[in-house]
Amino acid sequence: MREFLIAPSLLSADFARLADEIRDVTAAGADWIHFDVMDNHYVPNLTVGPLVCSAIRPHTSLPFDVHLMTTPVDPLVAEFAEAGANVISFHPEASQHVHRTIELIRSHDVRVGLALNPATPLSVLDHVLEMLDVVLVMSVNPGFGGQAFIPHTLDKLRRLRVRVDATMQRTGRPLQIEVDGGVKASNIAGIAAAGADVFVAGSAVFGVSDRAQAIRSMRGELATVDEGLGFAAAK
Ligand code: DX5
Ligand code: ZN
Repeated sequence: MREFLIAPSLLSADFARLADEIRDVTAAGADWIHFDVMDNHYVPNLTVGPLVCSAIRPHTSLPFDVHLMTTPVDPLVAEFAEAGANVISFHPEASQHVHRTIELIRSHDVRVGLALNPATPLSVLDHVLEMLDVVLVMSVNPGFGGQAFIPHTLDKLRRLRVRVDATMQRTGRPLQIEVDGGVKASNIAGIAAAGADVFVAGSAVFGVSDRAQAIRSMRGELATVDEGLGFAAAK
């Protein structure tokens, strides 16, 4: 049985009231807090860094899922580990030495994710998949919240599901597939059936006043997913 997790992205929260927003989605039933870090260099937007991460960390006990959209990556790892990150994901294009960056994150006792842009092929995973805890599949181009889900992501997820299942069988270690961008109640079931375990949702959660209702309706849709069919379709 796969466990489905919902990770609201703070990018769409009210930045003037971040602590309240975090408490609100925690009470609303979120599983992880997704923390988007943008540097106006790797992506054309600028958000927040480790200082804000550590400032809001005391306001929830949920895992912090830090998504680095920055280059370089390595100089930020220690600070985010210190700031309370539980997962740190980075983009392979943003690191000169992907294998080294994975080892660096792991050395801080933080779970490691590799983030794949819509045009990044699954082949970047060839020599590192067994080292990862999370594969973060971008279903929009990184940089902004509120974009539309790119449909070809579903095919990518199905192919990735097969590889991830085979890898987990071989290693006996858990490995999660996370999807990020344009996820909402109306498409979440199809995304889950294609193979995702963790669902980042920014505007679909923070863009509405009743966050508990938003998360409940996503969970309602997820409950309809026939995983068996999803796996069969993936194979
Ligand atoms: C985009 C970010 C996403 C974003 C998702 O670069 O990585 O996490 O916040 O927002 P929605 O759910 O609105 O597409
Ligand atoms: Zn993100």
